[in-house]
Amino acid sequence: MSSSITSVLQENRVFEPADSIKASAAVSGMDAYNALCQQARDNPDAFWGERARELLSWSKPFTRVLDESNAPFFKWFDDGELNASYNCLDRHIGTANENKAAIIFEADDGAVTRVTYKELLAKVSQFANALKAQGVKKGDCVIIYMPMTIEGVVAMQACARIGATHSVVFGGFSAHALHDRIQDIGAVAVVTSNYQMRGGKELPLKSIVDEALSMGGCEKVQSVIVYQRTQTAVNMVAGRDHFMAEVMAAQSTECAPEMVNAEHPLFVLYTSGSTGKPKGVQHATGGYLLWAAQTMKWTFDLKDSDVFWCTADIGWITGHTYVAYGPLAAGATQIVFEGVPTFPNAGRFWQMIEKHGCTIFYTAPTAIRSLIKAADSDESVHPKNWNLSSLRILGSVGEPINPEAWMWYYRHIGAERCPIVDTFWQTETGGHMITPLPGATPMVPGSCTLPLPGIEAAIVDESGNDVANGAGGILVVKRPWPSMIRTIWGDPDRFVKSYFPEELKGYYLAGDGAVRSEDRGYFRITGRIDDVLNVSGHRMGTMEIESSLVAKTDLVAEAAVVGRPDDVSGEAIVAFVVLKRPVPTGDEANAIAKELRKWVGQDIGPIAKPKEIRFGENLPKTRSGKIMRRLLRAIAKDEEITQDTSTLENPHILSQLSQKH
Ligand code: PRX
Repeated sequence: MSSSITSVLQENRVFEPADSIKASAAVSGMDAYNALCQQARDNPDAFWGERARELLSWSKPFTRVLDESNAPFFKWFDDGELNASYNCLDRHIGTANENKAAIIFEADDGAVTRVTYKELLAKVSQFANALKAQGVKKGDCVIIYMPMTIEGVVAMQACARIGATHSVVFGGFSAHALHDRIQDIGAVAVVTSNYQMRGGKELPLKSIVDEALSMGGCEKVQSVIVYQRTQTAVNMVAGRDHFMAEVMAAQSTECAPEMVNAEHPLFVLYTSGSTGKPKGVQHATGGYLLWAAQTMKWTFDLKDSDVFWCTADIGWITGHTYVAYGPLAAGATQIVFEGVPTFPNAGRFWQMIEKHGCTIFYTAPTAIRSLIKAADSDESVHPKNWNLSSLRILGSVGEPINPEAWMWYYRHIGAERCPIVDTFWQTETGGHMITPLPGATPMVPGSCTLPLPGIEAAIVDESGNDVANGAGGILVVKRPWPSMIRTIWGDPDRFVKSYFPEELKGYYLAGDGAVRSEDRGYFRITGRIDDVLNVSGHRMGTMEIESSLVAKTDLVAEAAVVGRPDDVSGEAIVAFVVLKRPVPTGDEANAIAKELRKWVGQDIGPIAKPKEIRFGENLPKTRSGKIMRRLLRAIAKDEEITQDTSTLENPHILSQLSQKH
């Protein structure tokens, strides 16, 4: 057990929500929370049905709430029809929100652009018309490979408007990763940008799309639409490539939304699994949007006057639910930020909170930890230099937040006034699952506390039996919920095997270990129980990195990848590599490690680069040839090997593998 987990388990500080928040909260106090949970348990159909009618506009009302007849392929509201973009935009027109800022965009260089709901609707409609003019129609798939910009959100909303399913690929992924996703989803169009600006640097996107498309197998792609983020010219392929501004200029600012069935796939987002290639997590329109809107109210207690800021990129699920859909469905004003937290200096987040009067701030523990480090070593970027009194609520997402980081966030950013919602959820869950409610739940640092009403989260053993509080186990969700993954795109068998394994009695398997506290029954996530790493809040499959390393066939014979705890990124990637040549040492070892790191960066993306590479003439294996990963994890942590190594075929390689590069 890592030291941070041990310290979380011993945590006994409790922080009550501030009265000022509690007084006006959507869910005020634990009695209100418990009552909602009870209602959801007693009559789930009535509970969810009521919320779907209250929070969303339906062009054809549903008559059925949950259809379990083909479990685990659950359907929600499936005879109802709606449009996600209508619900995020048109619904606010003619209300007080019409001229409210929907997005306050701050570019990497600090330039600010605002769009109102009315203006955003016009842009989305224009781009939706442009997509149609390119031949994109309902049921088609569109890849979006865009930076954090208003245009990125416009592209997603425009797809939703015409009933096209989007798949956003994070701008840090390589041509190879992009190619695999374009091919897997069978995209007919790609929306990209010439370049993206991050940390003062201009980074290419369009040329990576060109490279991906040249890899073959992407023949369905008819058009590539390019947003010109910077003045730098890029190669445009005649007939295939078009500038976003040009195709939009020709179009009307009105576009009737295409109403779709509630189960129509709104988007597919690829995420890493423990085996094989990334999984295309498919989300449905109705249930997903309901949960996006509902959690904006419950978890963030959103009010009309709030200025909401989720720092996640639209390339990840957090940027889908809490940038592209949730805030708009809820009629919020939100900040969208193009850059990075450390440019021009590590005070950027705090400066932006002051500048825009941000009231709800939602970020990842890895960002907090790196900003703590920066503030500790440079007073000028300490948050005390800015006026953060506009803040009401703070949020954390993506990985467990260690109590030390939690306390700093609470004290220095929230002035011990703002509740912290430590939201546990996943790409597959569509929205928050286990989290404190800001006006109700007493908080314990490092614990995501209790499930949202209607979410039947539990901890079970390997046969699906409940374990007692205090005993660790497997995190499951016992009942379906509206925003759950519908299937893995094109691979329903893998969906069932990955998330509903037979031995778990039909429960949804999250893939995380967890433990509930003995006193309050609070959940604490102890980390993944599969071969998935969480590096800076990003999910990476160890197999994906191993496959990439062995694909360097001129050099690598075998590779095994494990995670090791890291102060800033949560986990760091450590790769153990057997080369097709003698074990290198000194400068040669460093040069090869550098080459392999570069290769993985190009093959998958910079986030997958191993922090450390260690070489051996073999990997530690049992006599039956199984790689002893537990042993590798211990070596990666520089722990003394106390495990029994008598079953090891080749014990002498342990000392070789201790050398870091
Ligand atoms: O291990 C859990 C961790 O992130 C995983 C989900 O990653 P992803 O699908 O990329 O979505 C991240 C953003 C929702 C989970 O299986 N995780 C996420 N949030 C938390 C967390 N671990 C502990 N505490 C959290 N609040």
